Amino acid sequence: AGHADQLIIDAGQKGFGATTCSSCGMVYSADNPEDVFQHSHFHLKLLSSIKFVGWKKERVVADFWDGKIILILPEDPKHAQKKAEDVRRVADDELGFQQVALSRPSRSKTYLFVNTDRMVVGCVVAEPIRQVGVSTRPVFVSEPLITQRVPPPPPPPPTLVQQAAAAEALRDDLLERHRAWCCSTVPEPALCGISRIWVFGPARQQGIATRMLDTVRSSFIFGSHLTTEELAFSDPTPDGKLFATQYCHT
Ligand code: ACO
Ligand code: ZN
Repeated sequence: AGHADQLIIDAGQKGFGATTCSSCGMVYSADNPEDVFQHSHFHLKLLSSIKFVGWKKERVVADFWDGKIILILPEDPKHAQKKAEDVRRVADDELGFQQVALSRPSRSKTYLFVNTDRMVVGCVVAEPIRQVGVSTRPVFVSEPLITQRVPPPPPPPPTLVQQAAAAEALRDDLLERHRAWCCSTVPEPALCGISRIWVFGPARQQGIATRMLDTVRSSFIFGSHLTTEELAFSDPTPDGKLFATQYCHT
């Protein structure tokens, strides 16, 4: 009995109720041994999932004073796929998604924000889509066919400027066909679906999600810059809605 009293007194000194771990973000009760155990398990697993050792070849698509954004494509090496998957799993756990499988694995692009402590604190999964339906809540559909309906891109011209122009023309063509194809129901076609967006709890409200979407818009289609109307958010959470509303009005 004395021991139990002691535990309660110790806990009382720390304050009853919830403790928030400042590094993994988990809320737990420090006076409950089961909770303490659960926390240490979660803590280690999470930190190893988001730890980023660095690779010889990284596709850095944006650089900031507090980190960088790397892009991982389906054809990238196993170790890159594995990291992208580990981080997606962390995000999915928090979003309450059951499965880690991507709806269009061969077309999905994963963007990771790596901070200066070499931790992945942001993840965006973007994929080509079409939008259908007339309801205010857009229906989010993966679009496997759209690039197959247009002619293949011409062989790369010699200069970067010409390459950019060719990509721009291809994109205009895509947009045009897309509009023609679904003009009766959708005035503003989305080209890029954001199927997941997640920022590590302790790193929120530092503009990381904003910078990641800016980077998606400038890099998702080569040589082109997508407008916010050309992005669609799949099944947004309350946090996601607040963020998307703010982001798309800027
Ligand atoms: N409540 C109110 N406004 C918000 C919130 C919020 N929770 N999050 C962002 N905003 C608004 C603010 O106006 C903010 O500007 P401010 O910081 O100057 O006030 C602006 O959006 C920009 O916010 P960022 O700092 O760029 O966003 P952040 O890096 O914090 O990431 C995110 C936002 C991704 C929604 C993050 O809170 C998160 O990961 N939440 C949990 C996972 C989640 O719900 N993700 C969305 C799922 S929907 C989907 O995946 C398609
Ligand atoms: Zn922790």
